[in-house]
Amino acid sequence: MSKEYTVHELKLQKQTLAALESAGIYYIKDILLYSPTRLAEITGLSKETCEKILDKAIEFLDQHRKRFMPIAELEKTSEKKRFMSTGAHALNRLLQGGWCVGEVTELAGPYGSGKSQACFTALATVFLPSMSQKEIQEILQETEQGEARKGNQKEHWGLNDGDISAVIIDSERTFSVNRFKKIIKRFNLDEKEVMKRIIISRPENAWDQKRIIESLVSVVRENNAKLVVVDSLTKLPRADFSGQGELYARQRLILDMAEKLRRIAINYEAVVLVTNQVVASVGTIGLGFKPTGGHVLGHTVDTRLLLVRATDPYRRVSIMDSSWLPPGECKIKITDEGIADA
Ligand SMILES: Nc1ncnc2c1ncn2[C@@H]1O[C@H](COP(=O)(O)OP(=O)(O)OP(=O)(O)O)[C@@H](O)[C@H]1O
Ligand SMILES: [Mg+2]
Repeated sequence: MSKEYTVHELKLQKQTLAALESAGIYYIKDILLYSPTRLAEITGLSKETCEKILDKAIEFLDQHRKRFMPIAELEKTSEKKRFMSTGAHALNRLLQGGWCVGEVTELAGPYGSGKSQACFTALATVFLPSMSQKEIQEILQETEQGEARKGNQKEHWGLNDGDISAVIIDSERTFSVNRFKKIIKRFNLDEKEVMKRIIISRPENAWDQKRIIESLVSVVRENNAKLVVVDSLTKLPRADFSGQGELYARQRLILDMAEKLRRIAINYEAVVLVTNQVVASVGTIGLGFKPTGGHVLGHTVDTRLLLVRATDPYRRVSIMDSSWLPPGECKIKITDEGIADA
């Protein structure tokens, strides 16, 4: 990845710099994710100041970065996508490698569909050593053909390069240490070590959740977090903004949190998983499910998955929408040790 320029390079006034940093904006490319109005809202600076900051940021990047390039270079960067295993190879295949680094993946589904189980499994697999895309593809091919893997070879891959951590924002308060220990065991991880490296936060309400997500950037940076789970992103906002007239405020809050998470995923090369409830909807092919949080969330996440219950312990996972993955679906099962192949 090219050099990341920090906001310090813009030679701004001290207070302006402080306002940007306290809003979690450390890199110049972070600034470009916002309109002047939005930047003013999140930093408390005036809109005029924010317009100037945006101009400066663009000018700076014009001088320091290629704004045009042959698509051959683009191909090189997209080939560098990195993944961590989900715990189920069928799902890894559907996602062409597993949970994708630098992206926000939404897990939507009704009650009991396995959203939390998938997140808890990821909190363990992230601590496995990383593998090259080539090794990952080999495992996926072999497992598809049902070939037994050679005994001493590892079946799953994480993002562990020695000193990583993971964060869970457990809005639903369903994370259980006892249950999680079984998942740690399944992947032969060092329980003590993993327990020290998972950071949990439990928001009290929607506003609290927003503040927690705002302070997440520094937590991710200081702890080298490679996975951020928000389970659930939408439940508290839905509970706290339930009136008809509050829909706009609720959507704004969800969008705001999703935007911040997306920035964290990109700038800190982390996997971000968010869960979301669904509402029943009547579609062209009969009764189905529609994720809550509407279009705002759909446009902000990179990949949107729908999990539905099949006969216990099986679940179907389908790609509802993705910026790069073709539609498809697979079957997984929920076990005592997290999600696994059906
Ligand atoms: N120890 C276990 N062994 C096997 N299956 C389990 C175990 N614990 C939970 N499950 C299964 O997982 C399901 C719950 O999955 P999960 O908690 O991931 O749902 P969810 O999609 O997060 O639901 P919600 O919207 O309520 O948060 C249960 O219905 C149960 O079938
Ligand atoms: Mg859950």
